[in-house]
Amino acid sequence: MTTTRIAVLVGSLRPDSLNRRVAETLRDQAPADVELDIIDEIGQLPFYEESLDAASTPAAAVTVRERVAAADVVLAVTPEYNGTMPAVLNNAIDWLSRPYGEGAIVGKPFGVLGTTPTPYGGKWAHADAARSAGIAGASVVETAVHSQTGIDVDVLAPEIFARFTEVVRTLAEARQSAAA
Ligand SMILES: Cc1cc2nc3c(=O)[nH]c(=O)nc-3n(C[C@H](O)[C@H](O)[C@H](O)COP(=O)(O)O)c2cc1C
Repeated sequence: MTTTRIAVLVGSLRPDSLNRRVAETLRDQAPADVELDIIDEIGQLPFYEESLDAASTPAAAVTVRERVAAADVVLAVTPEYNGTMPAVLNNAIDWLSRPYGEGAIVGKPFGVLGTTPTPYGGKWAHADAARSAGIAGASVVETAVHSQTGIDVDVLAPEIFARFTEVVRTLAEARQSAAA
């Protein structure tokens, strides 16, 4: 059995983040041949700055790059801030895009999902994250799943959560076909 390792970038640092709960539930319910590694250190990354990276790469950046490099696939689980992805996710993609052409995200299948309480469910954030990761060198897999939480919608309810599980399955399959 080949295990697919998925590095997960959560676009919210909020302690009670719903997107984090989605990521943790995906990790805890993953099939036996899929492992999800939630990369908490993206919250410790300084804003990307080239001379900082050249002089002495910060420890958090070294860790994030190593963990993503060790994964087969990258998954962003993110809300939307002001019509785009939160800065913490954008910044993580920037760190993973360098060194130019050799960043840890280069060539990796990349997917995105997430939830927000608005009717749009984060579609702009997801489109922007996919575009940015693609320009950074990832191989974007068409997976974006937007979910509106609303006041009375339980995003962890099985019938809604199944759409997120489907994304993980699609990414695992993308990895297998890339490896074949
Ligand atoms: C600064 C800020 C900007 C936001 N902008 C948007 C937005 O443009 N679209 C949207 O759907 N939700 C927006 N929201 C609401 C977030 O999607 C909502 O807070 C979400 O639940 C955060 O996810 P979390 O529970 O994982 O922290 C914004 C929230 C904040 C704090």
